[in-house]
Amino acid sequence: MQRSLAAGLIATALALSTLPSFAQDAQTAAKPAHRPMPKPSNLQVLPKDISSPDLIAAMRSYSKALGVECEFCHSEDPQTHRPNFASDAKEDKGIARIMISMTQEINQKYLSTVKDPDATPADKTVTCGTCHRGNTMPAQFFGAAPGGEMHHEGEAPPAKSE
Ligand code: HEC
Ligand code: HEC
Repeated sequence: MQRSLAAGLIATALALSTLPSFAQDAQTAAKPAHRPMPKPSNLQVLPKDISSPDLIAAMRSYSKALGVECEFCHSEDPQTHRPNFASDAKEDKGIARIMISMTQEINQKYLSTVKDPDATPADKTVTCGTCHRGNTMPAQFFGAAPGGEMHHEGEAPPAKSE
């Protein structure tokens, strides 16, 4: 049905038409057909020519890896109450940029050089989720006892207050 709506539009508009429907999840019912998401204007680490579906797939994977909604990194426009995705107002967006570069570098510079015949491509790819596991702050790891048993109760490390 989205296709028939978009049939008269040019190809880029078609690609962009997926964008508002995702953004819509996080807010009130918008008007996706009438308000195509503008082309990204403030990409500093992701490829500037990234396709809309790829951009949104990346954004959804970040959200999932950290267990957050888009608004964790993206500030809201006070007038429209819609997220202003290009804005850099939120500190966490800046941190995420560092994290994106770091993750790319780990994969490209280090993991790509590991010769491990058993490893699948997915095995040797670090993602946000590898460290974050659904948390905004990666949980500290204190290790397991040789039997695979965790710390005895009395020895549990102090919980991080957050
Ligand atoms: C963990 C932080 C984080 C979360 C969560 C997140 N984003 Fe982003 N988003 C970023 C960063 C960082 C950039 C800029 C990337 C760059 O500089 O290359 C960005 C850029 C964008 C852009 C391009 C804006 C422009 O004009 O340059 C869009 C659109 C966007 N995000 C949509 C979303 C949507 C939709 C969600 C939720 C599904 C989401 N984001 C969740 C961090 C996040
Ligand atoms: C190698 C492990 C690792 C990977 C991979 C990783 N992170 Fe992080 N991330 C951390 C650590 C450690 C911190 C805490 C840094 C600090 O607060 O100084 C952090 C903090 C953050 C924060 C700030 C959270 C807060 O509550 O202040 C954001 C946002 C974030 N990461 C996003 C991402 C995104 C998006 C990705 C994938 C592109 C990613 N991280 C990949 C280890 C990782």
